[in-house]
Amino acid sequence: MLASSDTTLQSLTSSAEPSVQIRNLNFHYGEGDLFKQVLFDINLEIYSGQIVILTGPSGSGKTTLLTLIGALRTIQDGSLQILGQELKGLAPKKLVQIRKNIGFIFQAHNLFHSLTARQNVMMSTDLFSHQGGNAKAAEILGQLGLSDRVDYKPHALSGGQKQRVAIARALVNRPNLILADEPTAALDKKSGRDVVTLMQKMAKEEGITILMVTHDNRILDVADRIINLVDGNLESDNIINDFSTSHDETGMDSRTFML
Ligand SMILES: Nc1ncnc2c1ncn2[C@@H]1O[C@H](COP(=O)(O)OP(=O)(O)O)[C@@H](O)[C@H]1O
Ligand SMILES: [Mg+2]
Repeated sequence: MLASSDTTLQSLTSSAEPSVQIRNLNFHYGEGDLFKQVLFDINLEIYSGQIVILTGPSGSGKTTLLTLIGALRTIQDGSLQILGQELKGLAPKKLVQIRKNIGFIFQAHNLFHSLTARQNVMMSTDLFSHQGGNAKAAEILGQLGLSDRVDYKPHALSGGQKQRVAIARALVNRPNLILADEPTAALDKKSGRDVVTLMQKMAKEEGITILMVTHDNRILDVADRIINLVDGNLESDNIINDFSTSHDETGMDSRTFML
């Protein structure tokens, strides 16, 4: 009973404000002869705790969309709100603030080669100035199966292990939003599964929203929703697990409470 009403409460709060709200977003690279529009009138809302998988052919604009949502590029046209904050026209200082709530896992893992795995994870935040930062970094590395590699430098790690350090660095601050660009591409089947299982656990237990680009069919089952981008257009949007409209024991749609 209690668990059921808790679930309703959670879906109410998570339905209240989308983590990501995109309206009529267009984006182009270059000007004049080099002008090339790559995103066309994108409209999208993502609610907290959702795991959304973004698929689409190479060159369809997936990485561009992810970097716009991550406040890493300037919004040219349309509206993009992250955690209730409009990014269009926002001063660079404010953008830096917003990025602190976002964990990035990109294809290139960009580790610091002179630092150990643990130190790389600690670079992610002010963990260096935190009491217990050392232990926190080691703990998340352990959860990703790297407890015996905590004090190794990147050159002594495999590609998959380096990717897991990058993932640990993105997860360690428990960000509100995780943006991942093919996070399992360099991992074997078991490591890839472990990584998405941990991400899924965080999404469900802590209400973290995850937007992940992947071609990895082996992990599609973790998605609550799969969206497909083709030539810069959102072609399809399939909700697989719609917890935002889950029913409580009265049989009422939880969204009706919001009206
Ligand atoms: N910095 C850039 N300057 C110019 N064109 C770019 C740039 N980055 C990407 N593009 C082009 O934009 C399109 C979308 O790229 P991208 O977002 O990387 O697609 P995806 O991640 O789906 O493969 C492609 O045609 C690509 O060549
Ligand atoms: Mg890409």
